[in-house]
Amino acid sequence: MGEGERRIAGLSAEEWEYYLRRQAEFSYATRNFLYRRINIARISPVLEVGAGSGVISAELAHRSSGSLVAVDRDEELLRRAKAVHSGDEGILHCLASGEALPFEDETFSAAVCHLTLFWSQTPDDMVQEMARVTRRGGWVVACAEPDYGGFICWPLKEIAELHLESLRREGLDPFLGRRLRKLFVKAGLKTEVGVQGQVLGEGDEGDFELSWWFRERAWKDIVSQGKLQRLKREERQALDAGEWMVYLPWFYALGRKG
Ligand SMILES: C[S@@+](CC[C@H](N)C(=O)[O-])C[C@H]1O[C@@H](n2cnc3c(N)ncnc32)[C@H](O)[C@@H]1O
Repeated sequence: MGEGERRIAGLSAEEWEYYLRRQAEFSYATRNFLYRRINIARISPVLEVGAGSGVISAELAHRSSGSLVAVDRDEELLRRAKAVHSGDEGILHCLASGEALPFEDETFSAAVCHLTLFWSQTPDDMVQEMARVTRRGGWVVACAEPDYGGFICWPLKEIAELHLESLRREGLDPFLGRRLRKLFVKAGLKTEVGVQGQVLGEGDEGDFELSWWFRERAWKDIVSQGKLQRLKREERQALDAGEWMVYLPWFYALGRKG
């Protein structure tokens, strides 16, 4: 990673990848919808910005008709992606910032990102760059961009408030989802925006453990251990009582370059 940048909550590359795999499961249906909309089977080359450890890179490479260039600014995550995809000749990994893509104007048929703009401190610049390197008639796609203004943690509102606080401390915009249309329109794209609602809380033990595994790391500087453990106990009780419900809207944007 560049100077002054660090992985959110100081998570290691392995921890981050573990978390991302689960997140990618949630957006599977939306990704399929978007792939159909851009007719991905017939386009090439495709650029993926913020590819991370490559959780969706292979899927993009296999579904498109040619090569995939996977960019990330995090060297360690990119190394993991390279190791995982070493046998996959259709993927070229590239260490670069999404705000300064090392490609000529109009190089790609589509520039795609998944769970990325939200984690960038300058998402506006990233969309501008994605639009610049996309060919006329091509697509710029952002998938799974959350908006914590619509986040419901019931009945423990404190948990939603702590999420907001920790995101702000990372210099991120918790309300990015609602700004997606503006970002795309400003980049000169004919834009369509939609949303996928993610509801958790049907008592899935794995999601409970994964959420707390993340929070214990991400919130260690903003809340005491005692309070963390109290909230965890209360969530457990709410889950056991069949009362716990979490909802988070994830937006997507589909932009066509004219
Ligand atoms: C939440 S992860 C998502 C990774 C991957 N897209 C996935 O869904 O598994 C966000 C990724 O965006 C990358 N990222 C954030 N800001 C970036 C920037 N300005 N330039 C390049 N990569 C960036 C991070 O390094 C990280 O790998």
